[in-house]
Amino acid sequence: MSITDEIDLILDHYRNPRNFGEISDAHVKHKDSNPLCGDVVELYLKLDGDRVVDVKFKGKGCAISQASASMLTERLFNKTLDEVVKLTKADILDMLKIELSPVRLKCALLSLKVLKGGVYSYLGRKLEDLEE
Ligand code: FES
Repeated sequence: MSITDEIDLILDHYRNPRNFGEISDAHVKHKDSNPLCGDVVELYLKLDGDRVVDVKFKGKGCAISQASASMLTERLFNKTLDEVVKLTKADILDMLKIELSPVRLKCALLSLKVLKGGVYSYLGRKLEDLEE
């Protein structure tokens, strides 16, 4: 893939986001923003046990933040929560395949921040339930 193909792919995800919407009975629902600009991503995961069976997101913001969220949702189907929490910055960069400045890196990592925040608070709630 050339750099223009990669940019085209990012723009395609931005203009035609995959898995865009809400899940009304989601087990994980989490929203966060990039403090630098206020752009937002909200993510929903439906689980069967600890496996992701459905994913949706909503958001508004720059092409990188929204395309990164769209691309990330495609990678979450059928993953276990264990696998989800192991996703890293390197996985996101590998997915986007372009060089990013530090400011743009924050855009790219917003969806990962939302994903991890949502999964960790879901796991925390489960732990509290077990302790009660
Ligand atoms: Fe706001 Fe990219 S400029 S997340």
